[in-house]
Amino acid sequence: MSFVFITIAIWSCSSKIIQPKVAFVSKNQLEIRVDSVLKLMTLEEKIGQLNQYNGFWEITGPTPKEGQAAKKYADLKNGLVGSMLNVKGVKDVRALQKIAVEETRLGIPLIFGFDVIHGYKTISPIPLAEAASWDLKEIKKSAAIAAEEAASVGLNWTFAPMVDVSRDARWGRVMEGAGEDPYLGSQIAIARVQGFQGDDLKARNTILACAKHFAGYAFAESGRDYNTVDIGESTLQNIVFPPFKAAADAGVRTFMNSFNELNGIPATGNAYLQRKILKSDWNFDGFVVSDWGSINEMIPHGFAKDSKQAAEIAINAGSDMDMESSAYVAHLAALVKEGKVQESTIDDAARRILKVKFELGLFDNPYLYCDENYEKETVGKAAFQEGVLEMAKKSIVLLKNEKELLPLKKSGQKIVVIGALANDKTSPLGSWRIAADDNSAVSLLEGLQKYKGNQLTYAKGADVTVGRTQFIWETKINTTDKSGFSEAIAAAKTADVVIMSLGEHGLQSGEGRSRTDIGLPGVQQELLEEVYKVNPNIVLVLNNGRPLAIPWADEKIPAIVEAWHLGTQSGNAIAQVLYGDYNPSGKLPMTFPRNVGQVPIYYNYKNTGRPVMTEPDSVFWSHYIDEKNTPLYPFGYGLSYTQFEYSDLSLSQNTFSGDGQIEVSVTVKNTGKYTGKEVVQLYIRDLIASVTRPVKELKGFEMIELQPGASQRVNFTINKKTIEFFTAQSKWEAEPGDFKVFVGGNSVQTLENDFQYLK
Ligand code: NOJ
Repeated sequence: MSFVFITIAIWSCSSKIIQPKVAFVSKNQLEIRVDSVLKLMTLEEKIGQLNQYNGFWEITGPTPKEGQAAKKYADLKNGLVGSMLNVKGVKDVRALQKIAVEETRLGIPLIFGFDVIHGYKTISPIPLAEAASWDLKEIKKSAAIAAEEAASVGLNWTFAPMVDVSRDARWGRVMEGAGEDPYLGSQIAIARVQGFQGDDLKARNTILACAKHFAGYAFAESGRDYNTVDIGESTLQNIVFPPFKAAADAGVRTFMNSFNELNGIPATGNAYLQRKILKSDWNFDGFVVSDWGSINEMIPHGFAKDSKQAAEIAINAGSDMDMESSAYVAHLAALVKEGKVQESTIDDAARRILKVKFELGLFDNPYLYCDENYEKETVGKAAFQEGVLEMAKKSIVLLKNEKELLPLKKSGQKIVVIGALANDKTSPLGSWRIAADDNSAVSLLEGLQKYKGNQLTYAKGADVTVGRTQFIWETKINTTDKSGFSEAIAAAKTADVVIMSLGEHGLQSGEGRSRTDIGLPGVQQELLEEVYKVNPNIVLVLNNGRPLAIPWADEKIPAIVEAWHLGTQSGNAIAQVLYGDYNPSGKLPMTFPRNVGQVPIYYNYKNTGRPVMTEPDSVFWSHYIDEKNTPLYPFGYGLSYTQFEYSDLSLSQNTFSGDGQIEVSVTVKNTGKYTGKEVVQLYIRDLIASVTRPVKELKGFEMIELQPGASQRVNFTINKKTIEFFTAQSKWEAEPGDFKVFVGGNSVQTLENDFQYLK
């Protein structure tokens, strides 16, 4: 152990005596501590803090002697690594932390990052599904469960939440975000950040969150992952930025930039995004990590000639930590010597990272997250199972329910379950569940089997097969084999109700899984039609990570339940909803198109100059000649087993000015026969503005629960903040003028009223 390390240790201990908890140390004191470490560091060691490596060797095995692993191992021992990703489990985390703390010159601890996107081993619904709950408390709780479980295995940083507003169902990563709306997306971003980070980052059940991917990633042209993004400032400011800003304001400590170029400049090398917007306009004082290899990807982007130039561009643009490009550790020292990068730029990036390490408590106890007993007690514990089950039930959206097919009768019924997905214990885990065990989810069949009163039969019908190697998932969906059809059809003939579990396998959405056809994959559509011919009493349970285009099913099938990929407790959650033990309350966070050709389709579209046909039979208006403009299911849509009636939308006054406000209220009545929850939604429209505004914008929502026959007045407030947007003056401000206000149970069926804002 070197002299300098002892110095740090003494310094750390003595500061502990004066002020034992960093959480109570004022910002200044924290910064003094950070600076005192920085002063001891060589340029190379500072650069080391900016370097993040993927787990590189059998950590508890022999020391690597050659190749890339040997180089990474040597870098770690030389203090040239600041963080690792994809190392998990207390044993492995401790082994690497020990090298950083005990074998490097300064003993600076590592941060361990991992993609805890919707759970670590206990998996909650995919984030898009969670967003469908519109239940911010439950979403926060779900993130807190994920944080606690992840922290118990030694992790202290998740690369979540993904807060990319997504409008394109072809893009596989829509499953990872909160859908298409900036307001809902912002509320959920806050809930997730608070859930992961809690109130005290030093607590052993909290971890760092990471708002990603900054920015514009979801606007990839034609929905093809990693593709070019070219969007104007109004869309960027009004649609893309709000959830990032909300996450920053909620105290998220890290950001991740993105793979895409934005208007010709790769996000990783984009100073406008990282330096101006994030670090200057929003005063973000945490750190930015690059996406995986995205620094070197500026070479194929055609923006940097080699890795050295890529490093120069990225660091100068404000990308603080290099994930897996090895460009910083290889080139930054030379770039400083050549005067192409200022040492103060390196200092700023290293200072940001060190500060977060202090905030996590790692300098006080680098093994804070390394307790094997705690790990054993925590992973998969019963309270987590209950939590993800609650979240899963609330994420389900009832899309259609004719003939009162649902809820199912609890006895005397012959029920036939069809579809490979109904009997699959891996698919419900969805995409991005890298630490979860295959076959660890409750399948739909298992969930239904817990209800003993009915006769239950299962027939696969058609295969959905997925091959998986350790690191690469390969999805092969059977497209031709119909040999299981006859068994399914024969079983369906005799059933009172047929439950068909169809859709995408859990690994058919997510990163790198864009689709050009968003119907039911393979022969599943054909299977559905064949079964329908013999028995139309079908409950279609959809499993998917993105909106699907299912116009035939919508027309013919009496009951449709959107069950996404709901995680570990999936089967129990769906069964409880089908049997009415939970009355569905979810609402779509993303528009479902009739046809992939309508994509991108979203509720907050602009009116255009030709919104309707003004002359009989004219073609010269904004429409398709072969499809309607309207979606199959709009944003905010979702049914319940009961019905809600909206009436008497009233405003406290019709004008307001300055800091005044208008109270909006509406009566919601449960006119059906079940107790149920309803998400009451408030939208506005700014009729004339310096930059055209969408036909509707969500500005508030509230979930209420009503007994049959009961009614409630629901109130919202409209003030200056509600109507602000990024105007032609390049400022967030409220413009005077005429507005409409809408309230309803989805973005289409609403009551409306008018108001004016006077400056
Ligand atoms: C690439 C993905 O884009 C990002 O979201 C993820 O966090 C990193 N890989 C690390 O796995």
